Amino acid sequence: MQALTTSARPRIGWGLVGAGGISDAHARALSYVPEARLVAVGSRDVAKAQAFIDKPRGDESITEPVRAHGSYQALVDDPEVDVVYIGTPHPDHARTMALALAAGKAVLCEKPFTLNRREAESAVALARRHGVFLMEAMWMRYVPAMVELKRLLAEGAIGEPVSVSADFGFSAAGLPATHRALAPELAGGGLLDIGIYPLNLAAFVLGDIVGVQADAELGPTGVDVHTVFNMRHAGGQRSHGMSSLRATTPCRATILGTNGSIAITPPFYAAQQLRVSRGTRPWEETPVEIVDKPWRGNRYVHQVEEVHRCLRAGLAESPVMPLDETVALVGWMDTMRAQFGLRYPGE
Ligand SMILES: NC(=O)c1ccc[n+]([C@@H]2O[C@H](COP(=O)([O-])OP(=O)(O)OC[C@H]3O[C@@H](n4cnc5c(N)ncnc54)[C@H](OP(=O)(O)O)[C@@H]3O)[C@@H](O)[C@H]2O)c1
Repeated sequence: MQALTTSARPRIGWGLVGAGGISDAHARALSYVPEARLVAVGSRDVAKAQAFIDKPRGDESITEPVRAHGSYQALVDDPEVDVVYIGTPHPDHARTMALALAAGKAVLCEKPFTLNRREAESAVALARRHGVFLMEAMWMRYVPAMVELKRLLAEGAIGEPVSVSADFGFSAAGLPATHRALAPELAGGGLLDIGIYPLNLAAFVLGDIVGVQADAELGPTGVDVHTVFNMRHAGGQRSHGMSSLRATTPCRATILGTNGSIAITPPFYAAQQLRVSRGTRPWEETPVEIVDKPWRGNRYVHQVEEVHRCLRAGLAESPVMPLDETVALVGWMDTMRAQFGLRYPGE
């Protein structure tokens, strides 16, 4: 892949697909990265794109002119857009990735990457065929506390990692059945939306997953509203994840090792602090070392910097969230859904 040269274009131009909630957070993240420039927003409705750009935000997220486009195709065709950020509901991801990759644009696509493994494989094959950069927006992996977690584990701070457990839940009781978290046609359900974080953390810490056992309660709209899963990793370790739309959970994650443990101060997916306990004495007798690693700007800044780092280096994917791993994790969610009987319309 050709590296984006710093001399020809000192700043990297971003285009946002979908004038919704997460695109807003991403626009803010871009404003904290001096070499990023938001150049365009694409919506199915040009007036909505313009309203997104003009919205008073009470901060300095958008200070330069930004173009509004009335279709996702027009956004990906914008010559000033180097990277397309896809912030649409899950079922749209594969389609919009195909548009952007065919236009030769680098892509950062929100999680879950796609609805299922088949779609994920096609997107990755297309990126490889066109020789363009593609990355799942698994921002959790890039925050400084997660980088520190990996460093501590690699230096053996808690011995050999044995197990990971993590939960992510919020009560969706106040949401209408048409909300994307609950609507089957928008691939609602806790596993794809938030269960992906415990799943991803387990793989990040313990490596490849080789087996899963999942069970879920399906809610009135037919999607999973409380989901538990056990995983087996290639090295023989076990991990445990949970997602819930029925109950707000503490969003804890704990990594156990043969010589200690690390608790990520909640919420684990937006980590800023680690609590490290070293040794094999009983838990209540073990001192806790606090390691503070706050984000800079907002939580999504670090993944933007990773995209830039990869593009400057001419990489077609991030070594921190490799595409084959993204595909494999989507595949494990397929397996879990098959176990508890959830298929989405059109699958
Ligand atoms: N990384 C994170 O922390 C994080 C947080 C929240 C969400 N997400 C992910 O980001 C994605 C979007 O989530 P969101 O909460 O931002 O969603 P949202 O606000 O409901 O929708 C985002 C935008 O998607 C576009 N869209 C395209 N097809 C649509 C359809 N059929 N129905 C509704 N909207 C459609 C709309 O933009 P236009 O009308 O402008 O075309 C909408 O404003 C999801 O995949 C979610 O998992 C990630």
